[in-house]
Amino acid sequence: MKHLLKLGDLTREEILSILNLADQLKYERKNGVSNEYLKGKKLGMIFQKSSTRTRVSFEVGMYELGGYALFLSNRDLQIGRGEPVEDTARVLSRYLDGIMIRTFAQKEVEDLAKYGSIPIINGLTDYCHPCQVLADLMTIRERKGAFRGMKMCFVGDGNNMANSLMVGAIKTGMSFSIACPKGYEPDAALVEWAKQNGEFTMTEDVKEAASGADVIYTDVWASMGQEEEKKIREQAFKGYQVNEGVMNVAKKDAMVLHCLPAHRGEEITADVFEAHADEIFEEAENRLHAQKAVLCKLLK
Ligand code: CP
Ligand code: NVA
Repeated sequence: MKHLLKLGDLTREEILSILNLADQLKYERKNGVSNEYLKGKKLGMIFQKSSTRTRVSFEVGMYELGGYALFLSNRDLQIGRGEPVEDTARVLSRYLDGIMIRTFAQKEVEDLAKYGSIPIINGLTDYCHPCQVLADLMTIRERKGAFRGMKMCFVGDGNNMANSLMVGAIKTGMSFSIACPKGYEPDAALVEWAKQNGEFTMTEDVKEAASGADVIYTDVWASMGQEEEKKIREQAFKGYQVNEGVMNVAKKDAMVLHCLPAHRGEEITADVFEAHADEIFEEAENRLHAQKAVLCKLLK
């Protein structure tokens, strides 16, 4: 594994190996054991979009591993004024040991990897969010004990989260269902891949998708960069809400996960959110452990 550009690039074994290391790092941290696996290593973190969890988990993660993280905002970098990615990649490769980038186009992340000579980590693009899904998988395995035989259901927009979750679920042996309105389906090539490689269903009917699910997942109706579509999306996603009615058709002990930030009253009710807050905030905590594991795998 040279980069983390998207989950589809990882084998099932590589995913499990990251999750195992994340579990170990979580256990060590809880027991006050610190391991400076990345002593002296430097990570650049380029952000072209806002972030709470991704920024803090990577920055704290690098600190805890004995390394250093630089926050590089698009507003300050020359990349924001049009310096080509090819040049930025070659320059930063001479200063840093790795780059985490959050941006719009997946191609920009792929280009950094293509032109640079250091590991590149995708911290979210419009296409996918692999780091989040590693933390999600970690949380599911912690609470459910296994992946095989589990059914994950995603309710809402076929966005970056849906794209990565379906790959992560199927690679680890879960079945995956998605309920989304027409016109808001996940990436068509990934849908094809999912159908070929696992148990995958897509429907417009939320209850049909959620029926018998072990994990219910949702995300915002309008992602970063889609602020102008907010009103149209509110109409399109009416009914695509994780609420009591949806939870009633899922398994009795179903978990609810949300990558956050959450919009209560839109994709999830406040009641369901609060009833599953333990799971959702453990999931947020697990970003730290999962990110540290990714950093160790790529930078050590
Ligand atoms: N879930 C997630 O990536 O959160 P941030 O946008 O706060 O980083
Ligand atoms: N789909 C959301 C995820 C945020 C973590 C977005 O891209 O804004």
